[in-house]
Amino acid sequence: MASETIVLLSSRELDKMRKAGRLAAKLLHHLGSMVKPGVSTLEINDEAERWTQAHGAKSAPLGYNGFPKSICTSVNEVVCHGIPNSKQILKEGDIINIDVTLIVDSYHGDTSKTFFVGTPSPTAKKLVEVTEECLRKGIACVKPEARIGDIGATIQEYAEAQGFSVVRDFVGHGISNIFHTTPQIPHYGTPGKGKRLRAGMVFTIEPMINEGTWEVEVQSDRWTALTRDRKLSAQCEHTVAVTDDGVEILTLDEGQ
Ligand code: MF3
Ligand code: CO
Ligand code: CO
Repeated sequence: MASETIVLLSSRELDKMRKAGRLAAKLLHHLGSMVKPGVSTLEINDEAERWTQAHGAKSAPLGYNGFPKSICTSVNEVVCHGIPNSKQILKEGDIINIDVTLIVDSYHGDTSKTFFVGTPSPTAKKLVEVTEECLRKGIACVKPEARIGDIGATIQEYAEAQGFSVVRDFVGHGISNIFHTTPQIPHYGTPGKGKRLRAGMVFTIEPMINEGTWEVEVQSDRWTALTRDRKLSAQCEHTVAVTDDGVEILTLDEGQ
């Protein structure tokens, strides 16, 4: 079935993915330096849009299925798809995920990270560290012949062992000249299950890890996803390519 086909990218396409990924990583790093008490999420959005245009790229989220802004900003109990807003002012102790996706020469780079506003609580610090380790462990599963289920199983096992839960309603995704395509990459699952990875596949891994329940609720704006229990949620994301001997992270800034 066509909908189950997973495209393998040519080396020319991979080069374009590298360019988009590198620029997205650079933008995310830049926006991270703006995260401070007193800054609004709209100010971060507006700087993202300005920077993106100045670098000759396009913000993929803007207008995507009606999304109204250029980046997603997800604060504290927001799991993902938070909409930047002038009334939302960052305060000491908050955590904020900034998720950027750039289009460069028709190809997408999608990456996100959770930043601390000032000094985090011990729980927030542990949640963000565990989420980053989930992404690292997920990426380490990626190589030809591994299964998609290996990635999610590894992430779920670690997150739950640390006392946290894995969001089910949002998953990683294939990405190329299309923002969201096959395959889906769940961050939970069973080792040895799911499709086999092949060199040339490109997808995101973007675990959302919750302090309490994994259940989420989408607000009436139809985008903002919150934890059902209003406890904290953290996320981080890279776009990765399966290579002949393992994995290449496409969304690393130079020198990272
Ligand atoms: N960047 C998000 C992802 O990781 C998608 C955002 S879609 C939007 O897949 F419309 F909310 F921007
Ligand atoms: Co993504
Ligand atoms: Co993203």
